[in-house]
Amino acid sequence: MRNIVAGNWKSNKLMNEGIELMDAITKGLPTLHKTEVIVAPPAPYLAQFSAQYKAHAVHLSAQQCSEHGHGAHTGEYTAEMLHSSGVTHVIIGHSERRDRFGESFEVVRSKVNQAIGASLHVLLCCGESLEVRESEEHFELISKQLKDALADVDSAKMANITIAYEPVWAIGTGVTASADQAQEMHRFIREQLGNWFNPQVASTTRILYGGSCKPSNAAEIFGQPDVNGGLIGGAALEASSFLSLVAASEAS
Ligand code: 13P
Repeated sequence: MRNIVAGNWKSNKLMNEGIELMDAITKGLPTLHKTEVIVAPPAPYLAQFSAQYKAHAVHLSAQQCSEHGHGAHTGEYTAEMLHSSGVTHVIIGHSERRDRFGESFEVVRSKVNQAIGASLHVLLCCGESLEVRESEEHFELISKQLKDALADVDSAKMANITIAYEPVWAIGTGVTASADQAQEMHRFIREQLGNWFNPQVASTTRILYGGSCKPSNAAEIFGQPDVNGGLIGGAALEASSFLSLVAASEAS
């Protein structure tokens, strides 16, 4: 099973800056033996990046997609549109979308279904706030977030899902979950996948860690038995740190 190192640029980088970063990443990438590299730039750049970097071993992801199919939904872009633009992956259920853009469990589930229907690979995010962790309800919440989002996905389609555990208290804060905390939650998620689907889904679904993952802590986190790489925010905005994370995955 290959690891994944995915860079979520969020709402950062103008077009020329994005091209500079993609140039540096694609030029600096080593021959990959055990890692898939994914970059999720802002949506307006996806079609051009897909044409421009086709020859490189970098997959392109959107940071979200519409919960609807085509039709009169001004401003929305559908999963099928992304697929037709050369995009292969989509992040769904990021805590910033859930919290700031009001994405309910139902909306996240619809987006997952749209993405799967359009043959996109989903990076499905889950994560608890500090408040939830302190009240020791984090396992229950993660289970609920994932079970609900995957309610319409069958075992065969789980090949198109990667899970990203991103504790909200670790995103952009510089505070990383300890390797033990990450491993504990990843193990729990894997067990749940076994309960909801089957042992094969449990053992083959990649589970990424996200939240202040950086070159100084990546080796320890990626080295955990149930961690299969990372979903990276801040450290994905510089080619050197992103490439160090790819190297950490290759060495894990
Ligand atoms: P940071 O790596 O900046 O904490 O962000 C993580 C994240 O939200 C990736 O989706």
